[in-house]
Amino acid sequence: MSNRPKIIILFGRSGCGKGTQATRLREEFGFDYLSSGDLLRERAKDNDFSGLKLRKVLKDGELAPSFLMFQIWSAKVEEIKNKNVLEGLIIDGSPRALAEAKLMDDVFEWYEWKDIKVFLIDISEEEAFGRLTKRRVCKDCRRIIPWVDDLKNLKKCDKCGGELETRSDDKPEAIQARLDYYKKDVQPVVDYYEKRGALIRINGEQTIEKVYEDIRKLL
Ligand code: AP5
Ligand code: MG
Repeated sequence: MSNRPKIIILFGRSGCGKGTQATRLREEFGFDYLSSGDLLRERAKDNDFSGLKLRKVLKDGELAPSFLMFQIWSAKVEEIKNKNVLEGLIIDGSPRALAEAKLMDDVFEWYEWKDIKVFLIDISEEEAFGRLTKRRVCKDCRRIIPWVDDLKNLKKCDKCGGELETRSDDKPEAIQARLDYYKKDVQPVVDYYEKRGALIRINGEQTIEKVYEDIRKLL
């Protein structure tokens, strides 16, 4: 890997494995990480107008408005840019609207980041629905517990011993809402990158290890 920093965009349907794959990449390469979902969940803890409204948006599985998303996201990117050395940045969950994709292009140009890889982790709606209704996350370290083998029987986090919880947007209606906005708002982003020849499509319906291998060899 010669160009620095390496920018890795992971996007795709809810449940496609963005968070899971980002964790693997961070563990191996130690890159910085920016998750739009985590940023919004953090912002939603504020008891101001947008914080309260965001809580409902997230719980219902709706998209946050691009202006708010981008305000929070770009402030974080500026912080990351000002660190001494940036080896790489994993972007999880952005963009989800055409306007956001175009603003992100501006950001990359402004910061003179040229090595951008856009990975679409592709899974079907059925697969997404099945995964999200079973997902559990550690309350403390936020580890996503894979729904495989013995991990299905875990009562506490196997990494830190924390309690396991279900995300508030992993209820059937909210999962469906997320799958619906994907068709309407995220599909145009897929088309946008595809037209430019910049989209790398990864089959997300393989084992976690195989998906990781496919991403890794294209970095
Ligand atoms: P976000 O937190 O990003 O949620 P999401 O997009 O719905 O995606 P998830 O986090 O649910 O799934 P994931 O792809 O990370 O999969 P995971 O690795 O956990 O965003 C939340 C909300 O914030 C959005 O709905 C929206 O409201 C808002 N938002 C976020 N970004 C926004 C933006 N840019 N603009 C506006 N609003 C925005 O895996 C899922 C499960 O599958 C786990 O149990 C895992 O173990 C399992 N799994 C993973 N990979 C595999 C595999 N290969 N095989 C079998 N199981 C697997
Ligand atoms: Mg995630």
